[in-house]
Amino acid sequence: MSDYVDLHAHWVPAVDDGVKTYDEGLALVRGLRGLGYSLCVATPHIRTAMFENRRPGLEQAHAAFVAQASRQTDVPELGLGAEHFFDDVFWSLFQRGEHLPYPGEKAALVELPPERLPLRLEHVFFEMRVRGVRPILAHPERYRAFYDESDALDPLLDAGAIPQLDLMSLVGRYGRQPQRAAERLLSEGLYYLACSDAHRAIDVDLVRDAIARLRTLVGREEADALMGENPRRILAGNPDFE
Ligand SMILES: [Fe+2]
Repeated sequence: MSDYVDLHAHWVPAVDDGVKTYDEGLALVRGLRGLGYSLCVATPHIRTAMFENRRPGLEQAHAAFVAQASRQTDVPELGLGAEHFFDDVFWSLFQRGEHLPYPGEKAALVELPPERLPLRLEHVFFEMRVRGVRPILAHPERYRAFYDESDALDPLLDAGAIPQLDLMSLVGRYGRQPQRAAERLLSEGLYYLACSDAHRAIDVDLVRDAIARLRTLVGREEADALMGENPRRILAGNPDFE
């Protein structure tokens, strides 16, 4: 049995575009456990005008799910963070301490608008790091700025951002450009962790295929680091990624 940690998925029911029901959330986390995940951290969207979630409501929804699911068998350990859309609202939430970091509060997941990188992005990432919260950059392969080259990632890495691969990018879930970008970023060694970003129980089959693909591309040992050791280091606040 593997000992993987998933730091990106949407299995808290009915809070975003992830699972709608308790039963599907349970099926999803059980499916992830079947792939070797012993710890799954949900990351519901916090995104203005789309998913107006705030920390207290998400914590309540997560706790209600866990209270029910933890009485079942074959359920991994469960935790909560959030996928924060990068905008002014995110920054004001962060400044007020109202964001929703990963367990341990040493890192937080941030997603970007796909078409164009926001201005001053690296300054915000740097500020986050200074305040003791490492910015985890969700699926860079899905942003146009990184489709064909990785140079635009340099200032973000310098500011302390840690790139997170969306596993399903490797099997074409988001189209050919993100798939090719993911393979390139992997070959360049620019990812520190790989996560499911599962939104539905049926995504488990694709995540299984993606893990097989990841092992083919980087080897078993590196794949295990991307899915196990490295996400654990992020939660512990000691990622060996510079
Ligand atoms: Fe996501």
